[in-house]
Amino acid sequence: MSRVTLSRYLIEQTRSNNTPADLRFLIEVVARACKEISHAVSKGALGGVLGSMGTENVQGEVQKKLDVISNEILLEANEWGGHLAGMASEEMDNAYQIPGKYPKGAYLLVFDPLDGSSNIDVNVSVGTIFSVLRCPDQYLSQNDSLDEQAFLQPGTKQVCAGYAIYGPQTMLVLTLGNGVKGFTLDRELGSFVLTHDDIRIPETTAEFAINMSNSRHWEPPVSRYVEELLAGKEGPLGKDYNMRWVAAMVADVHRILTRGGLFMYPRDSREPSKPGKLRLMYEANPMSFIVEQAGGVSTNGIERILDIQPTSLHQRVAVYLGSKEEVDRVTAYHQG
Ligand code: AHG
Ligand code: MN
Ligand code: MN
Repeated sequence: MSRVTLSRYLIEQTRSNNTPADLRFLIEVVARACKEISHAVSKGALGGVLGSMGTENVQGEVQKKLDVISNEILLEANEWGGHLAGMASEEMDNAYQIPGKYPKGAYLLVFDPLDGSSNIDVNVSVGTIFSVLRCPDQYLSQNDSLDEQAFLQPGTKQVCAGYAIYGPQTMLVLTLGNGVKGFTLDRELGSFVLTHDDIRIPETTAEFAINMSNSRHWEPPVSRYVEELLAGKEGPLGKDYNMRWVAAMVADVHRILTRGGLFMYPRDSREPSKPGKLRLMYEANPMSFIVEQAGGVSTNGIERILDIQPTSLHQRVAVYLGSKEEVDRVTAYHQG
């Protein structure tokens, strides 16, 4: 049987699932940008891409060279095609306006250009996360600059979400709202090939992911839950759990999509004004859409992440996602 490339899959989606042609084009362009980022990442010290820029992003985080390179690759790839009304990125203070010389389109692209930046210099997996929204009609104008309000839509409104993981293999994992597909980059062919046709997260798991070094800052429900996990067979949960933490959400979520598990980045007392570390628009929403489409669950401990009405572009959120049984349990602990 012939191999199904990303392009062929998207064309079939256009026919069978009414995926609009401009959305197909958008995804193709994002995939091409991810290939370019993968190439830049793989050059490492040979390409002079390691290390920091000496600048900070709007979140107050030091920008790595590859954060900036990846951001530029995504902007340049997507600005001219006429499929976007605007873009927003973890690495930019404000929404990116499509330059006046290019046509505008109906979609908004939101991304974390390089997730897991602290892994770059130590040669561990990183990734790119993206989310596609429709630009509400009232913000669609060829002349005016795009209002940031256009982006502030709950995750349920996403029409597509995906990530690329730059690990031992480069993969693109994608949902258009009808299940989750995984494509592996064939470097000789230069195309993403469908290798994971129906990604499902098992309901139960014995593996969790959390940065344990923050435990002294956690809130009581999280401390209680993790204590129970650590108590293993002799504890109230009656089973031994294993732990993994890659420090790149893309890689931790990819593992969970592959063999199940629970990922947690709770809010804690370090910065009380910020509910957690991860960003709702660039990280939590796209990953929650993918996880739910794979049969998993995703909450902030109180409500479904996809239902949260964003109030600002760079908003943070607590994240619990993965296998249903454990996400339900830790969410229930938050409720009393
Ligand atoms: P980014 O590199 O885009 O800033 O994201 C890093 C995020 C996320 O990918 C990961 O799960 C988490 O930060 C790791 O945080 P700690 O360093 O606190 O463990
Ligand atoms: Mn990130
Ligand atoms: Mn990032």
